[in-house]
Amino acid sequence: MTDNPYQTDRGNKDVSITNPKGVGTITAVPGTDRPMATDTAFLIGDSMTGGYGNGPDILHDCTIAVNPGEIAVIVGPNGAGKSTAMKAVFGMLSLRQGSVRLDGEDITTLSPQARVAKGMGFVPQTGNIFTSMTVEENLEMGAFIRRDDIRKTMEQVFALFPILRDKRRQAAGELSGGQRQQVAVGRALMTKPKLLMLDEPTAGVSPIVMDELFDRIIEVARTGIPILMVEQNARQALEIADRGYVLVQGRNAHTGTGKELLADPQVRRSFLGG
Ligand SMILES: Nc1ncnc2c1ncn2[C@@H]1O[C@H](COP(=O)(O)OP(=O)(O)OP(=O)(O)O)[C@@H](O)[C@H]1O
Ligand SMILES: [Mg+2]
Repeated sequence: MTDNPYQTDRGNKDVSITNPKGVGTITAVPGTDRPMATDTAFLIGDSMTGGYGNGPDILHDCTIAVNPGEIAVIVGPNGAGKSTAMKAVFGMLSLRQGSVRLDGEDITTLSPQARVAKGMGFVPQTGNIFTSMTVEENLEMGAFIRRDDIRKTMEQVFALFPILRDKRRQAAGELSGGQRQQVAVGRALMTKPKLLMLDEPTAGVSPIVMDELFDRIIEVARTGIPILMVEQNARQALEIADRGYVLVQGRNAHTGTGKELLADPQVRRSFLGG
């Protein structure tokens, strides 16, 4: 590997052959001996390099993928580029190199709106709800691209997060941190996404609320919606991850199943507090 963007090994990305990072190998799909190939991924941000506007590159040959039915988790230190990777996958910054594919289709040049129409649901790290609107209005806003009846989906969101039904006439800004995150996730679900992307869904909530949110996220995944999420609570998130990525300075530092990363001495020492 080289830092020179003009000398990449883009034709040679199969880590099972080259393992260009020298650390962490992708082994097998959990419970199978199938390799965790990323060419069959439902969503892949493939070898992404780019930054904000004309600024310096934040991402360097960064690859993030999630397979059907999986929960994929991105962890890493503050400023590592986790949110930037999510924004790149969602089309909020233009890549200098690399591509984004959803369900086999190259969506690299699509706008975020067009990606939502393709089935991407994204909950950003900040500003993810309309605080002055009621809970119900937030959910309705989530469904803005739909022309069909949204009531059934709203019922599903209320079934997943019962507290939101009780508070549906209340301004979202009056809710607790954990409840706001439920509104944000619910809003994304209102588009009936094929895939859900969550940037720090448990930020600022207590451990109990975090566990509850994780349970709900697992529940969503079980309905067949693959999930790509960034998490600060690395250990807990990797415990529920089929696939985990440790990002450092915009690069893939370690990749594997959640279990593999939790067992990796170097990952433990550097990112999980031993
Ligand atoms: N809108 C922006 N314009 C320019 N630079 C940005 C912007 N957002 C983030 N950056 C820079 O990109 C780098 C990565 O930031 P990013 O927010 O992706 O990190 P992160 O891993 O999500 O961190 P955290 O754990 O704190 O959320 C940082 O150096 C940051 O200053
Ligand atoms: Mg972030």
